[in-house]
Amino acid sequence: MHIGTPHSPSSTRVMVLGSGELGKEVIIALQRLGVETIAVDRYANAPGHQVAHRAHVIAMADGAALRRLVEQERPHIIVPEIEAIATDVLVEVERAGVAQVIPTARAAQQTMNREGIRRLAAEKLGLPTSPYRFAENLPALKAAIADGIGYPCVVKPVMSSSGKGQSIVQGPREVAAAWQYAESMARVPGSHVIVEGFVDFDYEITLLAVRTPGADGKIGTHFCAPIGHLQVNGDYVESWQPQPMSRVAQKTAREYATRVTEELGGRGVFGVELFIKGHQVWFSEVSPRPHDTGMVTMCTQVQSEFDLHARAILGLPVDTRLASPGASAVIYGGIEGRGIRYEGVADALRVPDSDLRLFGKPEAYKRRRMGVALARGVDVGQARERAQECARRVVPHA
Ligand SMILES: Nc1ncnc2c1ncn2[C@@H]1O[C@H](COP(=O)(O)OP(=O)(O)OP(=O)(O)O)[C@@H](O)[C@H]1O
Ligand SMILES: [Mg+2]
Repeated sequence: MHIGTPHSPSSTRVMVLGSGELGKEVIIALQRLGVETIAVDRYANAPGHQVAHRAHVIAMADGAALRRLVEQERPHIIVPEIEAIATDVLVEVERAGVAQVIPTARAAQQTMNREGIRRLAAEKLGLPTSPYRFAENLPALKAAIADGIGYPCVVKPVMSSSGKGQSIVQGPREVAAAWQYAESMARVPGSHVIVEGFVDFDYEITLLAVRTPGADGKIGTHFCAPIGHLQVNGDYVESWQPQPMSRVAQKTAREYATRVTEELGGRGVFGVELFIKGHQVWFSEVSPRPHDTGMVTMCTQVQSEFDLHARAILGLPVDTRLASPGASAVIYGGIEGRGIRYEGVADALRVPDSDLRLFGKPEAYKRRRMGVALARGVDVGQARERAQECARRVVPHA
């Protein structure tokens, strides 16, 4: 594929659906390659809106609105950066040859619902996963737990992300509350929940896999070094790279990631989430796009996951080499309010080998991710301490 000139008839137009911190970085990476970028989100002045050639505010789950915008903008490529999208429109657009969808419309569709990807990985591909069942009401959930899942278990809405609506259930008395919480936070009210047996893993990783064509035109898979991370209430607070792993576990992790990403197909970055205990590996889920825990690659890799995604989107060669051990630590709003200020930024950047991303989100709330601290170190231990210290020094104020 050629790359044209923005704002001219030759332009290569990429529409990014979802313009949060990850979409923003994808857009910046595309801008650097001379792509004309169109950022879309459901609210005005989203991070990605601020760095794109054009910005649009629509409800992306509204099929008619999405179709209208695609007809208006005529992108060559559509990049879904979030899950809550009218994916049936993406399927139509791809089928009609109007635009390419990254990695494919079917992959976006299969991964937006936990049921689709879990059945694909466990039942079609036969990968080990936590034991799981789906339930459409509270009695069915109780029955599923009684009939094999047991305690502790994890209850999640089938459509949700960043731990929203997710609870760990220790015993029968907690089931009703978990059901209610999942229902209250589900993206689509009245949808099912998944209940999973709790996997007592040693650590969990995100394995970034990049699918892009080689010189022969055939798509190859390239892996980044494994990213370790810490989740609190299902939301990522810290990540580091490389996560040390046994040879066997690393080989198995790559094998599972290859099987899932080959099944999903298309081009781009995938974040394959895996649980590891000793040499044992379980598949958890996969994002057909850069992963939040992968923000660490902005300080660890020769090409960040966003550079890699931009290149793969355009069918260009990639370099997944690690440059240095490093870590990321999330900066939360801590307060509620619009137009907040960040104090202590200079102090934060005095931490050796550190860096910051402030996302520019118009509105803060306590647990909203507003920025991320990045740091390198001689090893991940030092890098984690630095990233945490850097994050701690940034203080949001009303
Ligand atoms: N079956 C399980 N056993 C043990 N821990 C689990 C299980 N399921 C989820 N977790 C923990 O909760 C975290 C979030 O779960 P999961 O990735 O399924 O949800 P999510 O809402 O999609 O999160 P995100 O969007 O941040 O990836 C996992 O990374 C893991 O730490
Ligand atoms: Mg996850």
